Amino acid sequence: VLNVKADQPLSKIEPTMWGIFFEDINFAADGGIYAELVKNRSFEFAQPLMGWKEQASNKFAITNAGSVLILHEGGDTNPRIARVNVQADKGYGLTNEGFRGMGIKKGATYTFSVQARQQQGSPTMRVELADANGKILGTTSITPAGSEWKKYTATIVASETEPKALLNIWFDGKGVVDIDMVSLFPNDTWKNRPGGLRKDLVQLLADMKPGFIRFPGGCIVEGRELTTRYQWKKTVGDIEQREMIVNRWNTEFNHRPAPDYFQTFGLGFFEYFQLAEDVGAEPLPILNCGMACQFNSAEVVPINQLDTYVQDALDLIEFANGSPDSPWGKLRKTMGHEAPFHLKYIGVGNEQWGPQYIERYAVFSAIIKAKYPDIQIVSAAGPAPSGELFDYASKELRDLKADLVDEHYYSSPDWFLKNANRYDAYDRKGPKIFAGEYAAQSVATVSPKNENNWRCALSEAAFMTGLERNADLVHMASYAPLFAHVDAWQWTPDLIWFDNLNAYGTPNYYVQKLFSTNKGTHVLPVTAQGETVAGKNGLYASAVTDANAKTILVKLVNAGDEPQTITLQLSSARKISQAGTITVLKGNPDEVNNLEHPTQIHPEEQPLKWKGKDVKTVLPPRSFSVVKIPTL
Ligand code: AHR
Repeated sequence: VLNVKADQPLSKIEPTMWGIFFEDINFAADGGIYAELVKNRSFEFAQPLMGWKEQASNKFAITNAGSVLILHEGGDTNPRIARVNVQADKGYGLTNEGFRGMGIKKGATYTFSVQARQQQGSPTMRVELADANGKILGTTSITPAGSEWKKYTATIVASETEPKALLNIWFDGKGVVDIDMVSLFPNDTWKNRPGGLRKDLVQLLADMKPGFIRFPGGCIVEGRELTTRYQWKKTVGDIEQREMIVNRWNTEFNHRPAPDYFQTFGLGFFEYFQLAEDVGAEPLPILNCGMACQFNSAEVVPINQLDTYVQDALDLIEFANGSPDSPWGKLRKTMGHEAPFHLKYIGVGNEQWGPQYIERYAVFSAIIKAKYPDIQIVSAAGPAPSGELFDYASKELRDLKADLVDEHYYSSPDWFLKNANRYDAYDRKGPKIFAGEYAAQSVATVSPKNENNWRCALSEAAFMTGLERNADLVHMASYAPLFAHVDAWQWTPDLIWFDNLNAYGTPNYYVQKLFSTNKGTHVLPVTAQGETVAGKNGLYASAVTDANAKTILVKLVNAGDEPQTITLQLSSARKISQAGTITVLKGNPDEVNNLEHPTQIHPEEQPLKWKGKDVKTVLPPRSFSVVKIPTL
């Protein structure tokens, strides 16, 4: 018997409670949500022709047909161009392999674009979508004219669906032509924005109704060294001018290195703010605090040279919220968003610790608060000596009156079950908690063998009942990482997996979604024999009320192997309906979703009826249920 006191609401639940952690890891941005299909479109990868191959038709040898030369023309942001010298009327071409191929759909329209200038003659660019066997799946053509750079566009309709298409560009007619920013996008992007985001992936995020989106990471905020840290100012404005850098997850230090992993910043800070706005989430940017990733290097910027870093934070607030007449607000307006983005939170550093961090955080915090007292600052936390628990909300951060501390937990399912009561007795006088990265690891942290199995997802659900019960303290929480490409990942487990055409939510995704879409407005006390329900007999529970929808929502985890019959005894000031719903997620511990069976584990909602005040139901073994009880 569980007592739920709907007439004694405890704390308010922050609208930000359940959110999203976005990092460009596992091809989440380039090759993922950013719908560009051409890899290395501006020849700026470390090897300028990575992703490209010279082609000759059957009739001509490459050497006779033509050649390509990469010219470094200078400038900071996009210095290289490709000069194509065509020596035969037909038979010379370049092929782009895409991000592990290009996913194209039958009947869909794709926009090809290229910056080009003529040097000699006027070769026509015959553009083809093709499969690996050379079968043509769509074609168009462009003939650059004039010696000035100009953008040319043309559309292609795909005749077939193909997950690993290639883009061939044949140069017909002798001559010399310079090309840059070679691009192919589906027209059918999220909100049909040209050069936009992959619709199916954004939809999965929107379906979660996230309270916030944290971006751009993660470790990529820090960089393996400071020169490759994430600098938001280089990710806004014209995409041609966004300076590309190597992705921190490119490296051979990963279990699965991806030498072709670079950040083009086509998805940059403007697009992140726009995405947050689209899905109704608060934007939560995390900025570099003058320290590189401490797991890789001990590189920090001297404290007396921190100005640029702090200025980046101040300017970001102006970019998001400033008047369109302010220098950075003006850029926002130029990019198509005159209204402010209403930024309320900013993060200083990711996974940073020690005196170096505190010293730098103190500088950021003092300057940001002096200029923008209403902005809430998220401070970082680092690993404790045990390697498992983190040195959260240190005395120093308390003394500095930090607003929110970003705690990360990657641990075993057992750890998650045992820590469902982690915040029950936590100090309420210190900073609030942002559970900014967490995921149960089926094998070990950073093991490539980790799976998004039901055992892990269920343990996260149990842990999340503890976060919800303590929503007065925990103001934000997000699973991490978010996305992974099945052919190009570096880290497991991940919330959403995709290939070039399809995507699926893991069991963990459905756990997140059930919490997020049943967030409620106030926490309710729920007890069994006067005690918190946090693991006894394998049962975990939390309850909330939604004052707007006038519903009571009870989340119940049965982590045991046997069904459990439970009775919810409700005390409510409002009349309780006699009918509601129960939504159940269940499975076998090792069960997973995958591309072939994307909804093997998925929530099933059923009507629930009862007589009198008490709601009776049976919780299946190894299940997570949300009971929704309307009040009248
Ligand atoms: O989520 C993957 C990585 O885990 C993040 O980049 C980092 O913050 C953490 O170590």
